[in-house]
Amino acid sequence: MKEIRILDKKFREFITEKEIHERIEELARQMNTDLAGKDVVFLGILNGAFLFAADLFRLIDLEVRISFVKLASYEGTSSSGSIKELIGWNEDIKNKTIVVIEDIVDTGITLDRIVDELVIRKASEIKVAALLYKPASYTKDIPVDYVGFEIPNDFVVGYGLDYNGYGRNLPSVYTLIE
Ligand code: IMP
Repeated sequence: MKEIRILDKKFREFITEKEIHERIEELARQMNTDLAGKDVVFLGILNGAFLFAADLFRLIDLEVRISFVKLASYEGTSSSGSIKELIGWNEDIKNKTIVVIEDIVDTGITLDRIVDELVIRKASEIKVAALLYKPASYTKDIPVDYVGFEIPNDFVVGYGLDYNGYGRNLPSVYTLIE
């Protein structure tokens, strides 16, 4: 198994490039059936989902749009500390089926924040696609409709996911070994 080093950490290859692409083809086939006839906007969550969104989107065989938003941290004035704001909206999502594209769903806090915003903006239907999903750490009850791979509660990098900003360009997914 391939091992790599990023900064001070070592990682082992965990999901190969081929496995990722085969799984994305399956997800796209399922979406092409499920979403046919709907007014759909894919909503990619930056930065991590950019590769997954691109590879998935080019296999979607429907009239569909794509847009990206980003969660920006800023220091809140309240004692609760850092609050995340979703920035970059340039698409009217009212009355549309929104497919949220996430790199990974871990605790689900990010997803929950995004879904709140989609409800405020009056999306008619919300679907969630995540390349990776860590069921053991998920704390929310929003269904993740399209899951690439369920993975254990370990830190992973590659295929869009980073460790301190590095590793996003790796074509496969690696898991932390030390
Ligand atoms: P959540 O809000 O806890 O679900 O986490 C979502 C975000 O945390 C993801 O979009 C990632 O940016 C980051 N994240 C969670 N787990 C990992 C991991 O194992 N590797 C890299 N980033 C992760």
